Amino acid sequence: MELLALFWHPVWVPCTLFLSAVLWARRGAWRPAACPVDLRGKTAVVTGANSGIGKCVALELARRNARTILACRSRERGEAAVEEIRRATGNPDVHLRILDTSSMASVRNFARQFLQEERQLHILVNNAGSAGLPFEVTSEGLSLMFATNYLGHFLLTNLLLDAMKSSAPSRIVNVSSFRHHKGKVNVHFLSGKEQPKNFDKGYCSTKLMNVLFTVELARRLQGTGVTVNALNPGLVRTEIMQNYSWCARLLFHVMGILFFKSPTQGSFSTTYCAVSEEVEGISGKYFDSDCSLASPSPLARDPTIGRKLWEASEKLVGLDDGGRETASRKVA
Ligand SMILES: NC(=O)c1ccc[n+]([C@@H]2O[C@H](COP(=O)([O-])OP(=O)(O)OC[C@H]3O[C@@H](n4cnc5c(N)ncnc54)[C@H](OP(=O)(O)O)[C@@H]3O)[C@@H](O)[C@H]2O)c1
Repeated sequence: MELLALFWHPVWVPCTLFLSAVLWARRGAWRPAACPVDLRGKTAVVTGANSGIGKCVALELARRNARTILACRSRERGEAAVEEIRRATGNPDVHLRILDTSSMASVRNFARQFLQEERQLHILVNNAGSAGLPFEVTSEGLSLMFATNYLGHFLLTNLLLDAMKSSAPSRIVNVSSFRHHKGKVNVHFLSGKEQPKNFDKGYCSTKLMNVLFTVELARRLQGTGVTVNALNPGLVRTEIMQNYSWCARLLFHVMGILFFKSPTQGSFSTTYCAVSEEVEGISGKYFDSDCSLASPSPLARDPTIGRKLWEASEKLVGLDDGGRETASRKVA
C-alpha cells in the first residue's frame, strides 16, 4: 500500500511534466539509421564542418561513402575533424579545404580550387555560422556578422552553381534557425552602413536572410535539377555561443544539458535535407528541427524582399544578374 502511495505522490506530476518537456525539446521524427541512401560516387561540401552540427553532418555523409570536403577556416581544427571522420567511418575520401565565409577573397579561392580539382558537386551544405559576432566591418567593406552567416554562402553557392547543375540531381542545404522569425531585412546591414538593434537581432536577421536566399534561389533554379532548402536544427549543444560572455555560455551549457539536442541529434534535420529520398524534388522549403515541413516567417516568404536582397547581395559581392562574376571581380 505504501509502495502504491509512493507512485501516486504529487511530486511525480512536475517530474513528469519536466521529463516531457525534455523529451519534447529533443524530439526528432527522422533517423539517419532508417535511411538507406548510399552516396558512393557523389561529392559533398560542408561548410563549418570542424565542430557541432557541421561535423556530424560531414560524418554522416562520409559514412554513406560520399567524397566529403570539409570547408573550414582553421587548418588545425579542420585537420583534426578530417582525421576523426576518417577513423569513425573508414572512408579515406574525406578532405579539408580552407574557407572563411566572412572573406569573399577566401570564398573565391575556395571555389577556384574546388572547380580546378573536382568535376562534380552533388551536395552543398551551407552550415558555417556564428552568433554574437561584433559589429565590425571587414577589409572588404562588409559587415563581419552578415558576411559570415549569409553573404559568404551567397557567393559560394553562386560560384559553384554550374558544377551543381552539371551534377544534377543535386541539393543545396542552408542551415537557418527558428530565430529567423525575429529577424529584420535591411540591405544596409550587409555593408555595416546600418546596424541591427543588437547582436542578437543581427544574428536573427542573418538567419532570416538564409531563408530569403533559399526561396529566391529555388525560384531561379526551377527546371535545373538543383534543389535548395533551408532548415532549423533546433536548440543544439554546440560552440555557437563562443563569442558570448562566460555567464551566457554557462547558462547555455546548463540549459543545454537539460533541454538541448546533442550535436548528432541536432544534425538530423540538415542530413535529412541533404540525403533523404523524401526530400527529392522539393525546393524552396523550410524544414523544422523534427524534419517536418514548416512555414517560415511572413517576411521570409515575401518574394519582393527576397529579390531585393538578392540584387543587393550580387552588387556587394560582384556578381551580375546571371550569378556570374562581374568584370571588376573575376575569380583571381
Ligand atoms: N546550436 C544551435 O542551437 C543552433 C540553432 C539554430 C541554428 N544553428 C545554426 O547551425 C549552424 C552550425 O552551428 P553550430 O551550432 O554547430 O555551432 P558551432 O559548433 O560553433 O559550429 C559552427 C561552425 O561554423 C564555423 N565558422 C564560424 N565562422 C566561420 C567562418 N567565418 N568561416 C568558416 N567557418 C566558420 C565554425 O568554425 P570555428 O571552429 O573555426 O569557429 C564551426 O565549425 C550555424 O549556422 C548556426 O547558426 C545552431
